[in-house]
Amino acid sequence: MGPAGAEDARRDIARLFDRTAETYDALGIEFFAAFARDLLAQVAPVPGERVLDVGCGRGAVLFQAAELVGDSGSVLGIDLSSEMVERTARDIEDRGLINASATLMDAQEPELAGESFDVVVASFVVFFLPDPVAGLRSWHGLLKPGGRAGVSTFGADDPRWAGVREVFRPFVPPAMAWTWAARAGLFASVASFDRAVESAGFTGVSSVERSYPVTFADPAEWIAWSWSHGQRMFWELVPEDRLAAVHEAVLAELEPLREPDGSLVMTQTVRYTIAHRA
Ligand SMILES: C[S@@+](CC[C@H](N)C(=O)[O-])C[C@H]1O[C@@H](n2cnc3c(N)ncnc32)[C@H](O)[C@@H]1O
Repeated sequence: MGPAGAEDARRDIARLFDRTAETYDALGIEFFAAFARDLLAQVAPVPGERVLDVGCGRGAVLFQAAELVGDSGSVLGIDLSSEMVERTARDIEDRGLINASATLMDAQEPELAGESFDVVVASFVVFFLPDPVAGLRSWHGLLKPGGRAGVSTFGADDPRWAGVREVFRPFVPPAMAWTWAARAGLFASVASFDRAVESAGFTGVSSVERSYPVTFADPAEWIAWSWSHGQRMFWELVPEDRLAAVHEAVLAELEPLREPDGSLVMTQTVRYTIAHRA
């Protein structure tokens, strides 16, 4: 992607997440907060540490990390979406936290002092960057020697749900091929991603994958949820006059997946990669 293309993609991502900020992770489906908990369990921030939460969104990682580092530590969340940042900053204030803050900043190359964080976490962000390896390299530079990074990405999609994803594929233009990138290229396997993280300068890189059942009461709940986070992008690619038909096609794909009680269960695989600065 050229610089102009990268700039357009950056703006589109910021606006996409501006539109999701109100409902993001707020519809009662256990998702980002659960994955944040498991990421933090592995990167294990301790009281007094300084944590950077890259692409903090609505604070799934930030609030849990703030608890772990306590008032002698601190968490800084950065995000490209002003809506995400404003809402998260308001939540920080409402909770009376003195050890957390959120600010508008690009994660591709954060303008922060080098060697100033004990821990950098990035939960479901790195695949949005125009240059993920360069982003990882810049995060490596922000870590103090001996510091550690925890990066969450998505593992393989639930094959039972492939039909739902395919409904959207015809609407993704070639210029947005990057939207599939979260599961391709350097993200395609644990080995390829670990190599990419190593190539950014990290040592002691290791990944684990964990699969979670995510339950939706019915297809309508899945559809509402899919508008509330990054997946919204696919709905918004559908022209207005095709939206009703796509909605019907999605419902038709979901119907055979329903459990006897009418609910839907999607298996979400998450990859947690832990890496160190020597
Ligand atoms: C899938 S959400 C994850 C949010 C949060 N980390 C979580 O686990 O719930 C991705 C977030 O990354 C942010 N983001 C995407 N590209 C970014 C960039 N270049 N710089 C900073 N934030 C970015 C989005 O605005 C969004 O809030």
